[in-house]
Amino acid sequence: MGKPRVIMTGEGRKFFVKDTSKDFHTQFGYIKSSDLAGKEGAKILSNTNVEFSIFPPYFIDLYQRLKRDAQIIPLKDIGAIVAETGINKKSRIVEGGSGSGALACFLANIAKEVVSYDIREDFIEVVKRNIELLGLKNLKIKKQDIYEGIEEKNVDAVMLDLPEPWKALDSSSKSLKAGGFLVSYSPTIIQVSDLVNAFKRKKDFAHIKTIEIIEREWEVDQRKVRPKSRMIGHSGFLTFLRRI
Ligand SMILES: C[S@@+](CC[C@H](N)C(=O)[O-])C[C@H]1O[C@@H](n2cnc3c(N)ncnc32)[C@H](O)[C@@H]1O
Repeated sequence: MGKPRVIMTGEGRKFFVKDTSKDFHTQFGYIKSSDLAGKEGAKILSNTNVEFSIFPPYFIDLYQRLKRDAQIIPLKDIGAIVAETGINKKSRIVEGGSGSGALACFLANIAKEVVSYDIREDFIEVVKRNIELLGLKNLKIKKQDIYEGIEEKNVDAVMLDLPEPWKALDSSSKSLKAGGFLVSYSPTIIQVSDLVNAFKRKKDFAHIKTIEIIEREWEVDQRKVRPKSRMIGHSGFLTFLRRI
């Protein structure tokens, strides 16, 4: 099969080549397998003379190939989670639910350890395949209801992407270190309101902020420089609490 490679045109059109032992076909022509076996960083030509750069896949190239069965958290929101919590290679994180495992996989690439809870066997199977694709050794999946409890204690962060996040407040509170973060991602503001009203009745969390990240991509082509006409309108709200 040969090692997987990424090939990219000067315009940023990217292709993932899983099997470099065969010729690879694109809309810009095909690339011979002998060229795909070439040196990292080399420039190669398709049969129609379109130039590609070839390199080994980065984490993000593999991440973009994850199997998706549940709705995943977009990168713009993951970026905000990482920035606001400052999670790093020392962090121990619990997540629920796993869904397709997109957030869990991204966090496991940064953190020391991630344990992800989900109640659905079919999603757990998808996450296992995704863990294998990315070769992650520090991400564990548990088939358990996170509302019922979290076995891991003294964790630095709990991430929730669940229909009723307020039901995980007690288990998160018992699992988190003092100062640890509870981050909840919810598509509707009613879920945010129910979560914040539920924790206000308790005294073990402080509300840091609720935000929505809007990303507007621009087209930059000669003197045609303007926002793209299509964009993701809304994904979800992020609520950050800290265990006090
Ligand atoms: C929208 S998906 C999560 C997507 C995930 N954040 C990602 O980036 O791939 C929501 C998941 O929560 C799971 N879930 C719902 N209730 C749960 C519970 N009480 N405990 C654990 N998982 C739960 C569902 O089975 C579903 O897989």
